Amino acid sequence: MPQFLGIEWIDIFSSVERKKTYLGMVAHATLTYPIGNMLLVVPLFLLFPFHWFLLVLLYIALVYYDRKTPSRGGYGLDFIRKWKINQWYAGYFPAKVHKTAELPKDKNYILAYHPHGIISMGGWVNFASNGSGIMEMYPGITFNLCTLGMNFKIPIRREILLLFGCIDCSKESIEYALGPKNKGRAIVLVIGGAAESLDAHPGRHELTLINRKGFVREALLTGAQLVPVYSFGENDVFEQAANPPGSRLRKWQEALKKSMGISLPVVKARGFLQYSIGWLPFRRPINTVIGAPIHVKKTENPTKEQINELHEEYVKRLTELFEEHKERFGVSKETKLTLK
Ligand SMILES: *[C@@H]1O[C@H](CO)[C@@H](O)[C@H](O)[C@H]1NC(C)=O
Repeated sequence: MPQFLGIEWIDIFSSVERKKTYLGMVAHATLTYPIGNMLLVVPLFLLFPFHWFLLVLLYIALVYYDRKTPSRGGYGLDFIRKWKINQWYAGYFPAKVHKTAELPKDKNYILAYHPHGIISMGGWVNFASNGSGIMEMYPGITFNLCTLGMNFKIPIRREILLLFGCIDCSKESIEYALGPKNKGRAIVLVIGGAAESLDAHPGRHELTLINRKGFVREALLTGAQLVPVYSFGENDVFEQAANPPGSRLRKWQEALKKSMGISLPVVKARGFLQYSIGWLPFRRPINTVIGAPIHVKKTENPTKEQINELHEEYVKRLTELFEEHKERFGVSKETKLTLK
């Protein structure tokens, strides 16, 4: 890679294959990074310079009409998820899905995704698109990636997320998607959320899971089968400033999380044209292993004991999945999952 002024720049003479994966990454950043997706509407305003007020009114009306959709199963469009550019994007890391068992299409599923990483890059490419070929792997299954309701309050971003099949991660939304009318639905929940992102350092495997039981309760309530998913490499694609518990940075981050509900990891990554600074993830492999479904019996009013029992079983199965596949994906034999 060319050096100039002490900075490592991208190589404009790289192969066509590599350029395609770069384009895939740029497209993803434009579509899903908040600033990028807002910029997408600028051409519309330039095209209709005297009608912007009308455009805004129309948009507000549309959002009002559509306000319940994120918690009513969304409207993911297969042709968008099949876009070739999603496959290019998967090739950037590259990101791959590894299937270990069938998911029969006569049932519904909750896929519990770990770890959260900085922004769950693998979650998006594997489950909000056919980037890694999930459509052929699990025929008859519709995947819906779940995300915070807040994301559906940002103009344009909400439509883009919906088009890729994302839905709200609230209880109401989960229970609707996995309701008795639906079959072959697989919702993907990133269990560790914002808290876990503060532990997303390369090479580390720390999960916020011990007290996260809402997903188990939802599985019991809806009778959806629970599927453990572990994404090796999700924590590797961004570097994060050291923030061990007790450090000043961590205390500040915890305070912010408590007061505003958001995590602000201090991220170091690459840019569009150079490798020193920016917001794009590094080209490092992501290998997402999808475990076998755990049988769940629909239970109207699950008791605390039933929830704890299934949670224990879930943690056991997730740990087994991690142990069975870790060495294949570059994790040392001594490394164990840390749960907190
Ligand atoms: C889904 O992705 C896989 C792997 O990238 C590809 O082979 C397949 O053709 C894609 N399916 C569709 C329907 O586009």
